[in-house]
Formats: sequence, structure tokens, C-alpha cells
Amino acid sequence: MKIGINKIGFSTSHLYVDMKKLAFARNEDPNKYLIGIGQSKMAVVPPSQDVVTMAANAAIRILTKEDRDRISFVIFATESGIDNSKAAAVYLAHLLGLKNEIRAIELKQACYGATAGIQLARGFVALNPENEVLVIAADNARYGINTPGEPTQGGGAVAMLISQNPQILALEEDSTAFTQDIMDFWRPLGKTEAVVDGKYSKNTYLEFFEETWQAYLDKTGYSLSDFAALLFHLPYTKLGLKALQIALKDAQPSDTVRLAQEFEHARFFNSEVGNLYTGSLYLSLLSLLCNSEKTKAGQRIGLFSYGSGAEAEFYTGIIQPDFKKGLAKVDYNRILNLRKEISVSDYEQLFKQHLFSVQEGAISYKEDPAPFFFSGVHDFKRQYEKRGKKPSPNIWDKNV
Ligand code: COA
Repeated sequence: MKIGINKIGFSTSHLYVDMKKLAFARNEDPNKYLIGIGQSKMAVVPPSQDVVTMAANAAIRILTKEDRDRISFVIFATESGIDNSKAAAVYLAHLLGLKNEIRAIELKQACYGATAGIQLARGFVALNPENEVLVIAADNARYGINTPGEPTQGGGAVAMLISQNPQILALEEDSTAFTQDIMDFWRPLGKTEAVVDGKYSKNTYLEFFEETWQAYLDKTGYSLSDFAALLFHLPYTKLGLKALQIALKDAQPSDTVRLAQEFEHARFFNSEVGNLYTGSLYLSLLSLLCNSEKTKAGQRIGLFSYGSGAEAEFYTGIIQPDFKKGLAKVDYNRILNLRKEISVSDYEQLFKQHLFSVQEGAISYKEDPAPFFFSGVHDFKRQYEKRGKKPSPNIWDKNV
């Protein structure tokens, strides 16, 4: 039985900062951000959005009534969760109007969480073939104003339906994983921004790629010519390029040209949005599917997932004939172009206004065009709202 990604949807903030302007504000050469880091825009998550609302805004782009009836498990991967006990998946299931006869949990292992969610979902569908699993990858990547990690911030959510006979990507059996207890990036309890040793993190990411990639090739006997594209976790797109260069060492020119071209399509949305933490690899998959004209049924795609701390996995999938249908006709290039640019000082204000769960207060959401939004904390309870009884995914586009 084929199992894999049946549909994929994405949502991010309606606001962004231009990286050239951020570079000027930080007295850096813009090419450091544009080329050295590989980012052109950075999503600014307003205080009226968090992982739950971004996940709901992504999920309604793909869910039909039939999907809602078939979903029996919601797996919510995040490292910017909003409660130490209650799973974001429970809030989400309610906002989406899913039935009560489901399981709903939250998963965490830095940026690897969504991949763990997909592998868990795959096993669940193998045992329950008529069921669909909604896997969410949602994060708000915060390093802090004027920190080295600042140009690698961003935020958003990717929603994926995992099912039998998937429309987009059928997962293959083989995969290779690697885990080691290291401190390259973490967020101690109570801290709202990550602690990161950026250079160390970059090096461990590349070492973990080499480890899992080589182990995968040894296990399967495949070579570069067996892959139509290689996708990477992209906390900033230059890091994926560095990993690709490792894979292309000693490559035939035809493999180098093909994989380098496809990488450019696969990193485009990430360069326009910034870091999604655990969703970054899957935003890159969406970017490839939306922007490459060469993607076709039967091609093998390799996916490298990395989560600091650290854990990595390399796995593969085969593109399916109906992969375009799995995108639910959403024009993400148009949506990203509709976003509003804000100044660096407005971004700094919004960054400071976020309400975390131990704070009480109301959040202004009037200017937030999203179907789902966060309106504040009352009695330690986060308040979620929606526009209308059954919010339409198109509200965002109309209101922005
Ligand atoms: N033109 C082109 N490239 C330039 C440049 C210019 N004017 N100025 C600098 N660069 C390049 C550097 O050569 C470097 O490239 P390299 O990585 O190939 O060596 C890159 O831009 C970054 O410059 P660097 O001096 O290393 O930047 P930094 O010390 O400010 O730190 C990060 C950059 C990425 C390490 C930092 O943003 C960070 O810590 N980010 C978070 C790390 C992260 O995401 N970790 C999780 C991994 S999963």
C-alpha cells in the first residue's frame, strides 16, 4: 500500500521585512543577508498570530468535508508551543471543527518534529488505511532583535494530510536517522527566544547531513542520478546550499545542473518567508512543487530533516501523478506577493508586543486579515477567534 503526503497547505503572516532594509538597520552589507545567508524577506508574525492560528490558517486551505470526516489523528509538531501541558493540536481540532472521536497530540524535537510526525502518521495509516492524519508543522522563529540569529527569523505553518494512495508524495521504505546529545540550539523553559551557537549549529547540521546521506546511499545503493531533487531543512537557504554542495562533491555535470536548478526552485518560498523551524523542509517541498516545471510523476525526491539538539533523518518519496491536485489550487506566489512590507522599527514593536501564556491581556487583531487569530489571554487561557462561523481560506487574500 502506498502511504504519503496527500495534500499540503501553507500559511504565514501578512507582514514582512525586506532583508536589505534590515541589513542597513544593523550596519551590515545587504549581500551578507541576501547571498551569505540567502534570505530576501522575513515574515513578521504579528502578536495576533501564534502556532495554533497559523496552523488553522494553513489547514483550511486544504481540508474538505470528506477530509474532516476521515481525519482521526492530529499530530502538531512545534518548538514554539503555547502551553507546557495541553497540546496545540487540541485547540486546533476545535478551531477546525473536527469531530471529537480523534486523537490529538503535540510533538517536539526542534526542527525535526514534523518529520517524526510524518513517520508516526505513516505507521498509523498502515494500521488504519481508511483514516487520514493531519500533520502540522508550525513555528514562530524568534532569536531576538539585533542578535546574530535575527536575519534567520520568520514564521508560519505547513499542514499536511497523510493517507493511503496519496496525491503528492508516496514515502519509500528506506530512511536513515542519527541522534546525538549536543547543545547547538535550544530554548530553556521560560525563555521566549532561542539560545543558539550559530556556527556550531551550522557545522553539526552539515555533519549530520553527511552521516545520514552516506548511510542512505550505502543502504540503498542509489546514486545522485536516482534523485530528481534534494530538499533540505532550511533555517536559512544558504545552509541547504552548503549541504547540497557536499552531496554534489564528485558529481557528474548533468547531476550537478539538475539538482542545483531544482534547489533554486525549492528554496524560493523559504527565501521569501524566512525560518519556519520544523516547517522549513516542507515549505521547501511546496516551493519545489509550485515553482519547478520539471517535477513529474515517478521522480524520486530526497528529504533531509534536521532538528538541533540534535537529530536528523534522510528519507525519500516518489512524486505521484495527481501532485498538482494535492496543492488544492492555491497560488502561493500570489499570496506571498500580496503581503505588506513593514519598516524595521514597526517589526521591532510587533516583536515586543507578543503575549506569552503567563501574561494577561488583550491583543489588537483588527488589522490581521487571517481567518483565525489570537485575541489575548484571560485567566491564563488563550483566546482564539475566527472570522465567521465557517471561515473561508480566501478571507486572507481579500482582507490583506
Ligand atoms: N556578501 C556575501 N556573503 C557574505 C557577505 C557579503 N558582503 N558578508 C558575509 N557573508 C557570508 C559569510 O562569508 C558567511 O558565509 P559562509 O557561511 O559560507 O561562511 C555568511 O555570509 C554569514 O556570515 P557570518 O559572518 O558567518 O554571519 P554571522 O556570524 O552573523 O552568523 C548565522 C550567521 C547563520 C550563524 C547566524 O545568523 C545564526 O546564528 N543563525 C541561527 C543559526 C541557525 O539557524 N541554527 C539552526 C540550524 S538548524
